[in-house]
Amino acid sequence: MSDTVPAKIGIVTVSDRASRGEYVDRGGPAIHEYFAAVLTSAWEAVARVIPDEQPLVEQTLIDLADHARCALIVTTGGTGPALRDITPEATTAVCHKLMPGFGELMRAVSLTKVATAILSRQTAGIRGQSLIINLPGQPKAIAECLDAVMPAVPYCLDLLDGPYLTTDENRVKAFRPKK
Ligand code: MTE
Repeated sequence: MSDTVPAKIGIVTVSDRASRGEYVDRGGPAIHEYFAAVLTSAWEAVARVIPDEQPLVEQTLIDLADHARCALIVTTGGTGPALRDITPEATTAVCHKLMPGFGELMRAVSLTKVATAILSRQTAGIRGQSLIINLPGQPKAIAECLDAVMPAVPYCLDLLDGPYLTTDENRVKAFRPKK
């Protein structure tokens, strides 16, 4: 795909309270800020704020992948053990392939920051040509987790024939194996 066409990035906040307006969504804007700081190639956001309802999370991920054609979809929230936390289940249900290395790495890195990192069941996977990555709901988790996995994301999108992402190497050095 041409790198002059902006890459579409889905940003999905999964939170009952944010979706009801009981508090201001801080996770979605933090993801937006992260990509604004790190990506040097053209991109545009497609943002959603939705409650922790599995059918709705699944439908939103399907819509962003299949209809909005987002190359990358990042969710925040709903990854923990609480009764209504279902983001990983919704992600698993709509993905054609799971990418367990993302969750493994994000938990390992998060564990160096916070002991409760093991409470996140965050995962990642591929639906069609879209890479879906779960992040915890804590706004500070966003950069912590994305910094860990971002070096591998541009090459993952290359392998899906997606947009060619470039990054500010002072922030994140994208790794592409030499041909
Ligand atoms: N990971 C990072 N990097 N930073 C954090 O603050 N919070 C943890 C964990 N992972 C956290 C983190 C906590 S307290 C919980 S309960 C789980 O993520 C799940 O959070 P979620 O249900 O909001 O997705």
